[in-house]
Amino acid sequence: MKPIPFSPPRIDEKTIEAVTAVLRSGWITTGPQTRAFENDIQQYCNSGPVLCLNSWTNAVEMVLYWFGIGPGDEVIVPAYTYAATANVVVHLGAKPVMVDCAPDSAHMDIEKVAAAMTERTKAIMPVDVGGLPVDYDAYMELAKSYTQRFEWKPNSKPQEKFGRPLVVSDAAHSFGSLYKGKRVGNQTDVAGFSFHAVKNLTTAEGGAIALNFQNEIISEKIRQEIYVKSLHGQSKDAISKMQPGNWRYDIVEAGYKCNMTDIHAAIGRVELERFQESLDRRKEICEIYNRILSTNKNCIVPTFKTDWSDSNYHLYMLRVNKFTEDQRDAVIRKVAEQGISLNVHFQPLPLFTFYKSEGYDIHDFPNAFNFYKNEISLPVYYDLSNEDAERVANAILKAIQEV
Ligand SMILES: Cc1ncc(COP(=O)(O)O)c(C=O)c1O
Repeated sequence: MKPIPFSPPRIDEKTIEAVTAVLRSGWITTGPQTRAFENDIQQYCNSGPVLCLNSWTNAVEMVLYWFGIGPGDEVIVPAYTYAATANVVVHLGAKPVMVDCAPDSAHMDIEKVAAAMTERTKAIMPVDVGGLPVDYDAYMELAKSYTQRFEWKPNSKPQEKFGRPLVVSDAAHSFGSLYKGKRVGNQTDVAGFSFHAVKNLTTAEGGAIALNFQNEIISEKIRQEIYVKSLHGQSKDAISKMQPGNWRYDIVEAGYKCNMTDIHAAIGRVELERFQESLDRRKEICEIYNRILSTNKNCIVPTFKTDWSDSNYHLYMLRVNKFTEDQRDAVIRKVAEQGISLNVHFQPLPLFTFYKSEGYDIHDFPNAFNFYKNEISLPVYYDLSNEDAERVANAILKAIQEV
């Protein structure tokens, strides 16, 4: 039987032509394509200035680094997320303070977020799991009311200016989703997108941050500051350094190296041009899954819409009522025998060796564990045919019955 992968990228002649054009252009690293892609994203999201880097991970780490987060600081993250959300905090020597999900939800319980805040909280990073936006306004309110509860103790210039914790939404999954009818990207201080190969919009590897500080001028200045940090603290970017006679530069700090190349940006620009078509197709596939799977009363189909949000159908996160972890794993194995790749989003972070060794205990996160134990993510991608989507759903129904 034909294998069905989990989430291959949409690559066709248009993508190949765009990449080839960059390869032939004589300029392949960060340059005009990356700049244009940043402007395209800013327009699409109606956000503040955008900086594209080589991953969500590095882009968000650069923001936290710019904000001066380090040892002694705390950043609130969900227990139910991909490791990147917490790892960037660890890289900077700060402490990820993990919060459990709300009951039967993949999102953090906001009351528990409020309870987890301390005088050391420097940022809050809610995650739009599967593409469904969290309630950004509630997070912004929480951060803005920080000084009513705690004394703000800045230890960097940006922290002095800002006067409260930063809200960085982990929108790795939610590019193109809607919050209160508007595209995700401008509702929090910073929104971080991932363009990794499995994402709705890909650049193979890549990520972006949309900066929504006080106003466009301030945000652009901060974008420049972060860009310098992402390029070895170099005072000139590669393209201006290459202009005749313009070779001399300074290193103003020991920065990182995580810029996006024009080759990657060119892929992203093709993706963005036809993004609505990709989103519409994802929705159709998810509707096929809903139709077939909801015939079994134990299938809990995913939430794609809330009072405040509309998902971009990034993940189809099925849950099977009353299933244990072993039963869920057995379903995935049975379906794999037919060449169909399923996935699980997410293994809560306290289940991992590293976070266990840091003292995080899954028993403190019962709702995250309950969400994880019976969750199965189904293939959703542009080139998946209706017949193949039906084959996936029917194979899962059969496996559930057998288990
Ligand atoms: C929720 C979440 N945050 C962050 C990331 C990291 O993205 P990237 O691979 O672009 O660094 C991912 C990647 O899958 C993710 O799922």
